[in-house]
Amino acid sequence: MKVLVTGGAGYIGSTICSALEDSGHIPIVLDSLVTGKSEFVKNRYFYQSDISDKETLKKIFQEHPEIKHAIHCAALIIVPESVEKPYEYYRENVSKSNELFRNLILLGCHHIVFSSSASIYDVAPNFMVTEEASLKPGSPYAKTKLMMEMILEDYCQAYSNMKAISLRYFNPIGADPKMRSGSHAKNASHVVAKMVDTAQGKIPEFCITGVNWPTRDGSGIRDYIHVWDLALAHVNAVENFDSIFSNKKEKYLVINLGTGNGVTVKELLKAFENVYGKKLPQKETEPRLGDVAGAYANADKALKYLNWKANFSIEDAIRDALKWSEFQGALFK
Ligand SMILES: NC(=O)c1ccc[n+]([C@@H]2O[C@H](COP(=O)([O-])OP(=O)(O)OC[C@H]3O[C@@H](n4cnc5c(N)ncnc54)[C@H](O)[C@@H]3O)[C@@H](O)[C@H]2O)c1
Repeated sequence: MKVLVTGGAGYIGSTICSALEDSGHIPIVLDSLVTGKSEFVKNRYFYQSDISDKETLKKIFQEHPEIKHAIHCAALIIVPESVEKPYEYYRENVSKSNELFRNLILLGCHHIVFSSSASIYDVAPNFMVTEEASLKPGSPYAKTKLMMEMILEDYCQAYSNMKAISLRYFNPIGADPKMRSGSHAKNASHVVAKMVDTAQGKIPEFCITGVNWPTRDGSGIRDYIHVWDLALAHVNAVENFDSIFSNKKEKYLVINLGTGNGVTVKELLKAFENVYGKKLPQKETEPRLGDVAGAYANADKALKYLNWKANFSIEDAIRDALKWSEFQGALFK
Protein backbone atom coordinates (compact mmCIF):
# COMPACT_ATOMS: atom_id res chain seq x y z
CA MET A 1 0.00 0.00 0.00
CA LYS A 2 1.00 3.63 -0.45
CA VAL A 3 1.34 5.59 2.78
CA LEU A 4 1.84 9.34 3.15
CA VAL A 5 4.66 10.08 5.60
CA THR A 6 5.02 13.71 6.65
CA GLY A 7 8.44 14.46 8.09
CA GLY A 8 9.76 11.48 6.11
CA ALA A 9 13.15 13.20 5.69
CA GLY A 10 13.69 13.24 9.47
CA TYR A 11 15.26 10.76 11.86
CA ILE A 12 12.14 8.78 12.72
CA GLY A 13 10.09 9.45 9.56
CA SER A 14 12.84 8.21 7.25
CA THR A 15 13.29 5.07 9.34
CA ILE A 16 9.53 4.47 9.13
CA CYS A 17 9.82 4.82 5.33
CA SER A 18 12.54 2.14 5.25
CA ALA A 19 10.44 -0.15 7.45
CA LEU A 20 7.43 0.37 5.17
CA GLU A 21 9.54 -0.45 2.10
CA ASP A 22 11.01 -3.55 3.73
CA SER A 23 7.42 -4.73 4.30
CA GLY A 24 6.50 -4.18 0.65
CA HIS A 25 4.79 -0.79 0.95
CA ILE A 26 5.47 2.52 -0.77
CA PRO A 27 6.06 5.63 1.33
CA ILE A 28 5.16 8.99 -0.17
CA VAL A 29 7.18 11.63 1.65
CA LEU A 30 6.02 15.18 2.35
CA ASP A 31 8.73 17.24 4.04
CA SER A 32 9.90 20.85 3.82
CA LEU A 33 13.48 19.89 4.76
CA VAL A 34 13.36 22.60 7.42
CA THR A 35 15.40 20.21 9.55
CA GLY A 36 15.25 16.97 7.54
CA LYS A 37 17.85 15.60 5.14
CA SER A 38 17.50 15.25 1.36
CA GLU A 39 19.87 12.24 1.64
CA PHE A 40 17.06 10.38 3.45
CA VAL A 41 14.55 10.70 0.60
CA LYS A 42 16.71 9.60 -2.31
CA ASN A 43 14.96 6.99 -4.48
CA ARG A 44 11.61 7.74 -2.83
CA TYR A 45 8.53 9.63 -3.94
CA PHE A 46 9.30 12.99 -2.36
CA TYR A 47 7.38 16.27 -2.24
CA GLN A 48 9.36 19.14 -0.76
CA SER A 49 6.75 21.36 0.78
CA ASP A 50 5.21 22.58 3.97
CA ILE A 51 2.57 20.28 5.48
CA SER A 52 0.03 23.13 5.38
CA ASP A 53 0.34 23.61 1.62
CA LYS A 54 -2.97 22.47 0.16
CA GLU A 55 -1.86 22.56 -3.48
CA THR A 56 0.99 20.12 -2.84
CA LEU A 57 -1.30 17.82 -0.95
CA LYS A 58 -3.79 17.91 -3.86
CA LYS A 59 -0.97 17.05 -6.25
CA ILE A 60 0.12 14.15 -4.04
CA PHE A 61 -3.39 12.70 -3.99
CA GLN A 62 -3.84 13.24 -7.75
CA GLU A 63 -0.63 11.34 -8.39
CA HIS A 64 -1.21 8.70 -5.69
CA PRO A 65 -4.97 8.31 -5.28
CA GLU A 66 -4.42 4.94 -3.55
CA ILE A 67 -3.17 6.59 -0.35
CA LYS A 68 -5.51 5.73 2.51
CA HIS A 69 -3.25 6.34 5.52
CA ALA A 70 -1.09 9.22 6.64
CA ILE A 71 1.67 8.96 9.25
CA HIS A 72 2.23 12.47 10.59
CA CYS A 73 5.79 12.85 11.92
CA ALA A 74 6.59 16.39 10.73
CA ALA A 75 7.23 18.74 13.62
CA LEU A 76 9.76 20.97 15.30
CA ILE A 77 11.15 18.94 18.18
CA ILE A 78 13.70 20.84 20.26
CA VAL A 79 12.39 21.37 23.79
CA PRO A 80 14.58 24.35 24.88
CA GLU A 81 13.94 26.07 21.53
CA SER A 82 10.20 25.67 22.10
CA VAL A 83 10.58 27.51 25.42
CA GLU A 84 12.29 30.40 23.64
CA LYS A 85 10.04 30.37 20.56
CA PRO A 86 6.55 29.26 21.56
CA TYR A 87 4.88 31.13 18.67
CA GLU A 88 6.90 29.16 16.11
CA TYR A 89 6.17 25.86 17.84
CA TYR A 90 2.43 26.42 18.09
CA ARG A 91 2.34 27.62 14.47
CA GLU A 92 4.44 24.78 13.04
CA ASN A 93 3.19 21.90 15.15
CA VAL A 94 -0.39 22.87 15.94
CA SER A 95 -1.78 25.35 13.37
CA LYS A 96 -0.15 23.64 10.42
CA SER A 97 -1.09 20.14 11.58
CA ASN A 98 -4.66 21.35 11.95
CA GLU A 99 -4.60 22.50 8.31
CA LEU A 100 -2.99 19.24 7.24
CA PHE A 101 -5.70 17.15 8.91
CA ARG A 102 -8.48 19.23 7.39
CA ASN A 103 -6.96 18.95 3.93
CA LEU A 104 -6.41 15.22 4.32
CA ILE A 105 -10.08 14.78 5.16
CA LEU A 106 -11.14 16.91 2.18
CA LEU A 107 -8.95 14.72 -0.03
CA GLY A 108 -10.51 11.54 1.34
CA CYS A 109 -7.68 10.39 3.61
CA HIS A 110 -9.32 9.65 6.96
CA HIS A 111 -6.82 7.39 8.68
CA ILE A 112 -4.07 9.11 10.61
CA VAL A 113 -1.20 7.82 12.73
CA PHE A 114 0.29 10.65 14.76
CA SER A 115 3.77 10.95 16.33
CA SER A 116 3.05 11.94 19.90
CA SER A 117 5.41 11.90 22.83
CA ALA A 118 5.78 10.52 26.33
CA SER A 119 6.92 14.01 27.34
CA ILE A 120 3.26 14.82 27.95
CA TYR A 121 3.10 12.54 31.04
CA ASP A 122 3.32 13.72 34.61
CA VAL A 123 5.86 11.96 36.84
CA ALA A 124 4.26 8.77 38.18
CA PRO A 125 5.08 7.46 41.69
CA ASN A 126 6.75 4.26 40.38
CA PHE A 127 7.77 5.87 37.03
CA MET A 128 5.67 3.43 34.99
CA VAL A 129 2.89 5.04 32.94
CA THR A 130 -0.12 3.57 31.22
CA GLU A 131 -2.00 5.60 28.63
CA GLU A 132 -4.41 6.62 31.42
CA ALA A 133 -1.68 8.12 33.62
CA SER A 134 -2.00 11.80 34.42
CA LEU A 135 -0.60 14.28 31.96
CA LYS A 136 1.52 17.33 32.57
CA PRO A 137 3.36 18.51 29.47
CA GLY A 138 6.35 20.45 30.73
CA SER A 139 7.27 22.55 27.69
CA PRO A 140 5.61 24.28 24.75
CA TYR A 141 6.89 21.40 22.59
CA ALA A 142 5.15 18.80 24.77
CA LYS A 143 2.03 20.96 24.89
CA THR A 144 1.88 21.02 21.07
CA LYS A 145 1.81 17.21 21.15
CA LEU A 146 -1.02 17.09 23.66
CA MET A 147 -2.95 19.74 21.74
CA MET A 148 -2.67 17.72 18.54
CA GLU A 149 -3.92 14.64 20.35
CA MET A 150 -6.93 16.62 21.57
CA ILE A 151 -7.61 18.00 18.09
CA LEU A 152 -7.40 14.52 16.57
CA GLU A 153 -9.78 13.12 19.16
CA ASP A 154 -12.31 15.88 18.43
CA TYR A 155 -11.97 15.32 14.68
CA CYS A 156 -12.63 11.61 15.14
CA GLN A 157 -15.78 12.44 17.12
CA ALA A 158 -17.01 14.96 14.57
CA TYR A 159 -16.11 13.52 11.16
CA SER A 160 -17.78 10.27 10.30
CA ASN A 161 -15.00 8.31 8.57
CA MET A 162 -12.15 9.72 10.57
CA LYS A 163 -10.03 7.41 12.73
CA ALA A 164 -6.69 8.10 14.32
CA ILE A 165 -4.00 6.59 16.50
CA SER A 166 -1.67 8.75 18.57
CA LEU A 167 1.54 6.87 19.29
CA ARG A 168 3.31 8.19 22.36
CA TYR A 169 6.99 7.57 21.72
CA PHE A 170 9.29 7.11 24.68
CA ASN A 171 13.02 7.67 24.00
CA PRO A 172 14.07 6.62 20.51
CA ILE A 173 17.76 5.75 20.14
CA GLY A 174 19.91 3.92 17.59
CA ALA A 175 19.67 3.94 13.83
CA ASP A 176 18.32 1.87 10.98
CA PRO A 177 20.23 -1.43 11.35
CA LYS A 178 20.91 -1.29 7.58
CA MET A 179 22.36 2.23 8.05
CA ARG A 180 19.97 3.99 5.65
CA SER A 181 19.20 6.69 8.25
CA GLY A 182 19.80 7.74 11.81
CA SER A 183 20.01 10.73 14.07
CA HIS A 184 21.12 13.75 12.02
CA ALA A 185 20.92 16.71 14.41
CA LYS A 186 24.12 18.68 14.88
CA ASN A 187 24.89 18.97 18.61
CA ALA A 188 22.11 16.49 19.43
CA SER A 189 21.21 16.86 23.08
CA HIS A 190 19.91 13.38 23.79
CA VAL A 191 21.82 11.08 26.04
CA VAL A 192 23.17 8.47 23.61
CA ALA A 193 24.37 11.20 21.23
CA LYS A 194 26.26 12.74 24.16
CA MET A 195 27.87 9.39 24.92
CA VAL A 196 28.89 8.95 21.28
CA ASP A 197 30.30 12.50 21.25
CA THR A 198 32.28 11.75 24.42
CA ALA A 199 33.61 8.49 22.95
CA GLN A 200 34.73 10.39 19.84
CA GLY A 201 36.39 13.14 21.88
CA LYS A 202 34.00 15.86 20.63
CA ILE A 203 33.11 16.67 24.22
CA PRO A 204 35.50 16.13 27.14
CA GLU A 205 33.21 14.14 29.42
CA PHE A 206 29.76 12.69 29.73
CA CYS A 207 27.63 14.48 32.35
CA ILE A 208 25.22 12.45 34.45
CA THR A 209 22.75 15.25 34.98
CA GLY A 210 21.06 14.61 38.30
CA VAL A 211 22.06 11.89 40.76
CA ASN A 212 19.57 12.50 43.55
CA TRP A 213 16.36 11.39 41.88
CA PRO A 214 14.28 8.84 43.80
CA THR A 215 15.32 6.05 41.41
CA ARG A 216 17.30 2.86 42.23
CA ASP A 217 20.68 4.57 41.66
CA GLY A 218 19.71 8.25 41.83
CA SER A 219 20.07 8.97 38.10
CA GLY A 220 17.10 9.70 35.82
CA ILE A 221 15.07 6.81 34.42
CA ARG A 222 13.82 6.51 30.82
CA ASP A 223 12.50 3.94 28.38
CA TYR A 224 15.01 3.76 25.52
CA ILE A 225 13.54 2.23 22.41
CA HIS A 226 15.41 1.25 19.26
CA VAL A 227 14.19 3.46 16.42
CA TRP A 228 13.76 0.39 14.21
CA ASP A 229 11.35 -1.16 16.72
CA LEU A 230 9.52 2.16 16.79
CA ALA A 231 9.32 2.21 12.99
CA LEU A 232 7.95 -1.34 12.86
CA ALA A 233 5.09 -0.34 15.17
CA HIS A 234 3.96 2.14 12.48
CA VAL A 235 3.99 -0.59 9.85
CA ASN A 236 1.76 -2.71 12.09
CA ALA A 237 -0.49 0.30 12.72
CA VAL A 238 -1.18 0.99 9.04
CA GLU A 239 -1.33 -2.68 8.00
CA ASN A 240 -3.88 -3.47 10.71
CA PHE A 241 -5.63 -0.12 10.84
CA ASP A 242 -9.09 -1.44 9.91
CA SER A 243 -8.95 -4.48 12.17
CA ILE A 244 -7.68 -2.38 15.09
CA PHE A 245 -10.90 -0.39 14.96
CA SER A 246 -13.28 -3.14 13.85
CA ASN A 247 -15.98 -4.08 16.35
CA LYS A 248 -14.91 -1.27 18.61
CA LYS A 249 -16.83 1.85 19.35
CA GLU A 250 -13.66 3.87 19.61
CA LYS A 251 -12.48 5.88 16.67
CA TYR A 252 -9.45 7.31 18.36
CA LEU A 253 -6.70 5.47 20.21
CA VAL A 254 -3.68 6.46 22.24
CA ILE A 255 -0.88 3.90 22.48
CA ASN A 256 2.47 3.99 24.29
CA LEU A 257 5.50 2.91 22.27
CA GLY A 258 8.18 1.86 24.70
CA THR A 259 9.96 -1.31 25.73
CA GLY A 260 8.25 -1.52 29.12
CA ASN A 261 11.65 -1.40 30.85
CA GLY A 262 12.98 1.54 32.79
CA VAL A 263 16.72 2.11 32.38
CA THR A 264 18.63 4.67 34.44
CA VAL A 265 21.26 6.97 32.98
CA LYS A 266 23.95 5.15 34.97
CA GLU A 267 22.73 1.78 33.64
CA LEU A 268 22.70 3.14 30.10
CA LEU A 269 26.23 4.45 30.54
CA LYS A 270 27.40 1.03 31.73
CA ALA A 271 25.74 -0.62 28.72
CA PHE A 272 27.40 1.94 26.43
CA GLU A 273 30.81 1.27 27.96
CA ASN A 274 30.33 -2.49 27.58
CA VAL A 275 29.47 -2.13 23.89
CA TYR A 276 32.16 0.48 23.24
CA GLY A 277 34.75 -1.48 25.20
CA LYS A 278 36.12 1.48 27.15
CA LYS A 279 35.13 3.59 30.11
CA LEU A 280 33.98 7.10 29.19
CA PRO A 281 35.26 10.19 30.99
CA GLN A 282 32.30 11.24 33.11
CA LYS A 283 31.12 13.49 35.89
CA GLU A 284 28.02 13.91 37.99
CA THR A 285 26.27 17.28 37.78
CA GLU A 286 23.11 19.02 38.94
CA PRO A 287 19.95 18.31 36.90
CA ARG A 288 19.34 20.59 33.91
CA LEU A 289 16.55 23.11 34.13
CA GLY A 290 13.20 21.40 33.67
CA ASP A 291 14.60 17.85 34.11
CA VAL A 292 12.36 15.25 35.73
CA ALA A 293 13.08 11.85 37.28
CA GLY A 294 11.55 10.23 34.20
CA ALA A 295 9.13 7.56 33.08
CA TYR A 296 8.90 4.25 31.34
CA ALA A 297 6.05 2.73 29.38
CA ASN A 298 3.47 0.20 30.24
CA ALA A 299 3.44 -1.26 26.72
CA ASP A 300 0.50 -3.69 27.11
CA LYS A 301 -1.82 -1.69 24.87
CA ALA A 302 0.68 -1.74 21.99
CA LEU A 303 0.78 -5.54 22.21
CA LYS A 304 -3.00 -5.78 22.36
CA TYR A 305 -3.89 -3.36 19.57
CA LEU A 306 -0.83 -3.36 17.31
CA ASN A 307 0.41 -6.87 18.04
CA TRP A 308 3.75 -5.18 18.60
CA LYS A 309 6.46 -5.26 21.18
CA ALA A 310 10.03 -4.02 21.14
CA ASN A 311 12.61 -6.68 20.30
CA PHE A 312 15.95 -4.91 20.20
CA SER A 313 18.05 -4.41 23.33
CA ILE A 314 19.66 -1.15 24.39
CA GLU A 315 23.01 -2.74 23.49
CA ASP A 316 21.72 -3.25 19.91
CA ALA A 317 20.65 0.39 19.78
CA ILE A 318 24.00 1.60 21.15
CA ARG A 319 25.86 -0.54 18.60
CA ASP A 320 23.76 0.92 15.77
CA ALA A 321 24.19 4.47 17.10
CA LEU A 322 27.98 4.04 17.14
CA LYS A 323 27.99 2.53 13.66
CA TRP A 324 25.73 5.31 12.38
CA SER A 325 28.05 8.00 13.75
CA GLU A 326 30.72 6.70 11.34
CA PHE A 327 28.28 6.55 8.40
CA GLN A 328 26.89 9.98 9.18
CA GLY A 329 30.25 11.69 8.67
CA ALA A 330 30.51 10.21 5.19
CA LEU A 331 26.85 10.82 4.27
CA PHE A 332 26.66 14.51 5.22
CA LYS A 333 30.14 15.65 4.12
N1 LIG B 1 13.20 12.14 18.45
C1 LIG B 1 12.55 11.95 19.60
O1 LIG B 1 13.19 11.74 20.64
C2 LIG B 1 11.04 11.97 19.64
C3 LIG B 1 10.38 11.55 20.81
C4 LIG B 1 8.99 11.59 20.85
C5 LIG B 1 8.27 12.03 19.73
N2 LIG B 1 8.94 12.44 18.62
C6 LIG B 1 8.16 12.93 17.48
O2 LIG B 1 8.52 12.19 16.32
C7 LIG B 1 8.41 13.02 15.16
C8 LIG B 1 9.67 12.92 14.35
O3 LIG B 1 10.77 13.35 15.14
P1 LIG B 1 12.29 13.23 14.62
O4 LIG B 1 13.13 12.94 15.79
O5 LIG B 1 12.34 12.35 13.43
O6 LIG B 1 12.55 14.75 14.19
P2 LIG B 1 13.28 15.32 12.89
O7 LIG B 1 13.55 16.75 13.13
O8 LIG B 1 14.42 14.44 12.51
O9 LIG B 1 12.14 15.17 11.79
C9 LIG B 1 11.08 16.07 11.63
C10 LIG B 1 10.88 16.28 10.14
O10 LIG B 1 9.74 17.12 9.97
C11 LIG B 1 10.03 18.06 8.92
N3 LIG B 1 9.17 19.22 9.16
C12 LIG B 1 9.08 19.97 10.28
N4 LIG B 1 8.14 20.93 10.12
C13 LIG B 1 7.61 20.77 8.88
C14 LIG B 1 6.59 21.42 8.14
N5 LIG B 1 5.92 22.46 8.66
N6 LIG B 1 6.29 20.98 6.90
C15 LIG B 1 6.97 19.93 6.37
N7 LIG B 1 7.96 19.27 7.01
C16 LIG B 1 8.27 19.69 8.26
C17 LIG B 1 11.53 18.33 9.09
O11 LIG B 1 12.13 18.86 7.92
C18 LIG B 1 12.06 16.96 9.47
O12 LIG B 1 12.44 16.22 8.33
C19 LIG B 1 8.09 14.42 15.66
O13 LIG B 1 6.71 14.65 15.52
C20 LIG B 1 8.47 14.37 17.13
O14 LIG B 1 7.70 15.27 17.90
C21 LIG B 1 10.30 12.41 18.54
